[in-house]
Amino acid sequence: MEGNFTYCNPTKLYFGKGAVKYLKNVVLIYGGGSIKRNGIYDEVRKILLENGKTVSEIAGVMPNPTLEKLYEGIEIARAAEADLLLAVGGGSVCDYSKALSASVYCEEDPWEKYYVKFEEPSCKTLPVGCVLTMAGTGSEMNAGAVITNRKTMQKIGHVFADESLMPRFSVLDPSYTLTLPHYQMAAGIYDIFNHICEQYFSGTDDNTSDYIAEGLMRSLLHSSRIANRDMKNYEARSNIMWTATWALNTLISRGKTTDWMVHMIGQAVGAYTNATHGMTLAAVSLAYYRHIMPYGPEKFKRFAVNVWGIDAAGKTDEEIAKAGLSAMEAWMKELGLTMNITELGADESMIEGIADSTLIMTGGYKTLTRAEIVEILKESL
Ligand code: NZQ
Ligand code: ZN
Repeated sequence: MEGNFTYCNPTKLYFGKGAVKYLKNVVLIYGGGSIKRNGIYDEVRKILLENGKTVSEIAGVMPNPTLEKLYEGIEIARAAEADLLLAVGGGSVCDYSKALSASVYCEEDPWEKYYVKFEEPSCKTLPVGCVLTMAGTGSEMNAGAVITNRKTMQKIGHVFADESLMPRFSVLDPSYTLTLPHYQMAAGIYDIFNHICEQYFSGTDDNTSDYIAEGLMRSLLHSSRIANRDMKNYEARSNIMWTATWALNTLISRGKTTDWMVHMIGQAVGAYTNATHGMTLAAVSLAYYRHIMPYGPEKFKRFAVNVWGIDAAGKTDEEIAKAGLSAMEAWMKELGLTMNITELGADESMIEGIADSTLIMTGGYKTLTRAEIVEILKESL
């Protein structure tokens, strides 16, 4: 392992059935209503009220939360003199709460400060707690907060360096995820898988992080196949939830440059289509990985053998690497993922705009040019 790093993760996790009873405080933040339909809202609210908390609410945080919604939340949190932001939902609600934490007392425009200039907060921030209802983003144990600006057609994530923006605690009860529709479960599974890929496909040194990544991917493949056949399988869903957290809580990025180009392209597609995050990644992944494979052949071969169990006998390195991506494609189809951006609402006329909206990262095996992004997007149509 060649990279030097620091590692600190201050989020305290409560994992397992009934974990919600550990909650103490409160501005309750949630999405479009799933928590009201499945009873989580009543359960959380009851605990808060029984403990004498004053509860105000920010409801209707949409998937891919918007800047307008952030502005609205600032007013509510200020009026409530909030001392805890409690996110109850998926990655969108958790991300939103972190962005809000940094924005409530921010004297500048939060978009400008955090999503254009990528600065850290210079004001008081509010503690965030999460009760997670969907496994996927890892938002429950990281400092990421993705916000969509509909005016500029940009969807941008800021991974705050300030550890005070990481959730102070997260409640992870896998049974809460059992009411997810299959589409969201599958999108979440692919999001997890791609988070691991984004960190795995970089570097050529021997790094413990890559071995951990392979173990996480193998566990995820195993559990995803069970959950795909039997959505109510608690064991599989609990493993998926735990894998999601470890896939993106900074552990497996230690000592690595990391890639993140599938996310950059996927987020730009999301800015144009408002499609489900995991599906935007699925729709561009194969075109991207087939494009960069020649620049990182050793890692793609290792991926094929160690993650997908490809038999290397009698095959060239290139054939092994390609077989790995074919196995990945078959698994993606088995899960019912969306495999092209057309089905997500993108069309040829958007390609140039999506390419303009794509941030180019330099940590992977190939720093893409804008022309290559256009090519990948066209192949993904
Ligand atoms: O809004 P409600 O009604 O709650 O419905 C949600 C939403 O429609 C529903 N849902 C969630 N839990 C449910 C449920 N439905 C039934 N039962 C449950 N238990 O699922 C839908 C999607 O929820 P959302 O929170 O949008 O999904 P996800 O967790 O995938 O979060 C996506 C957001 O996170 C960002 C994405 O870009 C996107 O904006 N990301 C955050 C990251 C981070 N913090 O590190 C990294 C990721 O790469 C990602 O970019
Ligand atoms: Zn993601």
